[in-house]
Amino acid sequence: MDKENKKFKRTLITSALPYANGPVHIGHLAGVYVPADIYARYLRLKGEEVMFIGGSDEHGVPITIKAKAEGVTPQDIVDRYHNIIKDSFEQLGISFDVYGRTTSETHRRTASEFFRRLYDKGEFVEKTSMQLYDEQANQFLADRYVVGTCPHCGNERAYGDQCEACGTSLNATDLINPRSAITGNVPVMRETSHWYLPLDKWEPRLRKWILEDHKEWKTNVYGQCKSWLDMGLQPRAVSRDLDWGIPVPVEGAEGKVLYVWFDAPIGYISNTIDVAPDSWEKWWKDPETRMLHFIGKDNIVFHCIVFPAMLMADGTYNLPDNVPANEFLNLEDDKISTSRNWAVWLHEYLQELPGKQDVLRYVLTANAPETKDNNFTWKDFQARNNSELVAILGNFVNRAMVLVHKYFDGVVPVCGELTEADRNVMEEVRKAVEAEGTCMDAFKFREALKEAMNIARAGNKYLADTEPWKLAKTDMERVGTILNIAIQICANLAVAFEPFMPFMGADLAAQLHLEHLSWDMLGRFDLVKAGDTIDKPHLLFEKIEDSVVEAQVNKLLATKEANQLAQWKPAEVKDNVEFETFERMDIRVGRVVECDKVPKADKLLRLRIDDGMGGRTIVSGIAKYYKPEDLVGQEVCFMANFAPRKLRGIESQGMVLSAVDADGRLVVIGPNGDVRPGSSVG
Ligand code: MF3
Ligand code: ZN
Repeated sequence: MDKENKKFKRTLITSALPYANGPVHIGHLAGVYVPADIYARYLRLKGEEVMFIGGSDEHGVPITIKAKAEGVTPQDIVDRYHNIIKDSFEQLGISFDVYGRTTSETHRRTASEFFRRLYDKGEFVEKTSMQLYDEQANQFLADRYVVGTCPHCGNERAYGDQCEACGTSLNATDLINPRSAITGNVPVMRETSHWYLPLDKWEPRLRKWILEDHKEWKTNVYGQCKSWLDMGLQPRAVSRDLDWGIPVPVEGAEGKVLYVWFDAPIGYISNTIDVAPDSWEKWWKDPETRMLHFIGKDNIVFHCIVFPAMLMADGTYNLPDNVPANEFLNLEDDKISTSRNWAVWLHEYLQELPGKQDVLRYVLTANAPETKDNNFTWKDFQARNNSELVAILGNFVNRAMVLVHKYFDGVVPVCGELTEADRNVMEEVRKAVEAEGTCMDAFKFREALKEAMNIARAGNKYLADTEPWKLAKTDMERVGTILNIAIQICANLAVAFEPFMPFMGADLAAQLHLEHLSWDMLGRFDLVKAGDTIDKPHLLFEKIEDSVVEAQVNKLLATKEANQLAQWKPAEVKDNVEFETFERMDIRVGRVVECDKVPKADKLLRLRIDDGMGGRTIVSGIAKYYKPEDLVGQEVCFMANFAPRKLRGIESQGMVLSAVDADGRLVVIGPNGDVRPGSSVG
C-alpha cells in the first residue's frame, strides 16, 4: 500500500472505554482522552469529517467484585460511575460525538451478533480446560476471585491475576494456598469449556500488516507489537464462566458470558450505531474512512492484535490506520493507583478548582507521557499556569487588547505600511503555526502546544521591541499598525489553542468578535477587520496562589498517611523465652523531674528521673514526639539494669520504654495508676 497516496475522506476516532468501576483520573486524561480530543478538534477545525467515539466499559470481574463488596448489584455500580464519568468528561470539554455504554441494548445486540457471525463462520475453536471452582458458591472463580500467597514475594493477599505488592502477573493456579475470595474456601479444579479465537491463525497477516505496513507507528506501540508477535500468538478464550456480561449466544452456553475484552471494543461499533444508525457502516467499512484508536499502553495488545484479529475474522471491517498509544503519567513521583487512592480525580478537580478546565488540559498536554512515563506535580501545575498561561499567553492578549481600547476606543486600527519588525513577527507566527500543524499530524501534541505558545512569545517580544506606548504621542499611524498586527496575532492564538484549550479559545474568539474559527485562518493577518470593535478584555487566566496547590498537596499527604496506616501489620512475635530470661530485665517506674533537649542532636532528650534511689539521667530518642515540658511530672517505665553508655557526651543510665505506633511515632509507656517511683515492673 502506498501510504503517501492513500487518501482518506473521513476519520473515526475511538478512545478507550473506561471501566465504570471508578471515576476517571488525570492518568486516563493525559494518556487517552485529552490527546484524542485535541486531535478530534484539530480535524474539525480543518473542516474534516470526524466521528469521535467514547463510552463506558461496564462488564468485567472488577465491577462484580466492587458490587459484592458494597452489597449492591453490578448494574448499580456501573450506573453510578457511568454518570460521574460522562458528566466530568463533558465539563472538561471532551467533545465526544457519542458517549455510550456497554450495557446498552444496542451493544448487547451488536456484540452478540458479532460473536454469532464468527461462530457460524467457524472462526472459534472450542476447548475444555480445568478452572478453579468454588463448590460452596457454586461457581467458577475468575482470576480476581482467587486470593493466595504470591510465589514471588510471599504477599498473602495476592490476586489470581496479579500480586499488587510486587507487581508480578500471575495465574490463579500459581498461588500458594489459594482461597476463594467469595467464601474463603479452598477451590477445587473443575472442567469447563470455552470458545477461543485462534490468534495463531491470524499471526502471518498481523505480522505483515503491523511489522511491514505500519512501520510509521509510534516506537512504543510498534515495539510492543513486535515482541508479542515474536513470542508467537496463542488462541485466546473469548468467553468466561460469570453471571455479569453478555450471554454467549449459543445453545447450551448457560452461565457463560462474552469475555469483557471481546465485547468492549465492539462497543466502539455499537456506539457508532447509536449515534449514526443509518450511516454507521460508512464509518467502519468504507476503505476511505481512517480509523484511529487512542489508548494507554496497557491496552496495546488488545487494539493492535486481538481486536484486529476479530475484525479480520469478520472480514467486512476496516483495520485501524494508527494506534497512538501513550505511556503512563505518575503523580508526585508515584504510580497512580485507584486502590491506593493515589490520583487526582477529574470530578473532584472540577469541583475544587472550578473554571480551570483549560489549565488542567494545558498541563496534562505539556507533560503528556507521549514517549515515556511522565510526572504530574502540583508545583509544576502552578508554575505552568503562572509563568506560561498567565505571564506569556494571557499577558500578551491582555496588553494588545487594552492598548486598542486605550488609544482607539476599542476599534481595531488600520494596518499601514509594514516595517521589518512587522514582517519578522509575521514570519515567526507563520513558522510556528506551520510547525504546530506538522506536529499535530504526527500526534506530537506536546510539541504542537509549545509551538502555539511560541506565537504568544513572539507577540510579547514584538510589543516589547516596538513599544507602541512610546509612539503614541508622535505617530498614531504607526501605533495603529502595530496594534492591528497584535490583534491579528491574538486571533491566531484563538485558533492555535482551540484544540488544547477550547474554553479559552471560544472566550478569546468572542472577545475579538470572531464568529467562526478554522485552521486555515492560521498565519493570516486579516482576521479581525480594521474598523471592527473588540470587547474590553477580561483576563484569560488567573494566577494560582500557593494556598490552592498546598491544599491539594496536603490532600495527597493525607492519602499517603492513610495508606501507610491501612497497610500496617504488627511485627511477627519473636521466639519464645523462659521466665528466667525475662526476670533478668529490671524494669522500674520513675518520674520525670527535669527534661531538656540535647544540644545539636535533634532526636534526643535528656531526662532526669526520680527512681526512688537518688535519681538518674537517661538520654532518649523521643525528641521528635515530645516537648520537654510535656514530660516533666510524668511517670514512665524504664530499664534500670541497662549498661550505662555515653550519648553525645552524656552518660545515659537506662532506657525509657515506649511503644511504636503504626506511623512510627514513639509513645512513652507509664503505669496505669498510682505507684511510687522505684517500683518494679514484671
Ligand atoms: N476498559 C479498558 C481499560 O480501561 C479499556 C477498554 S477499551 C475497549 O483498560 F477497546 F475495550 F473499548
Ligand atoms: Zn508478589
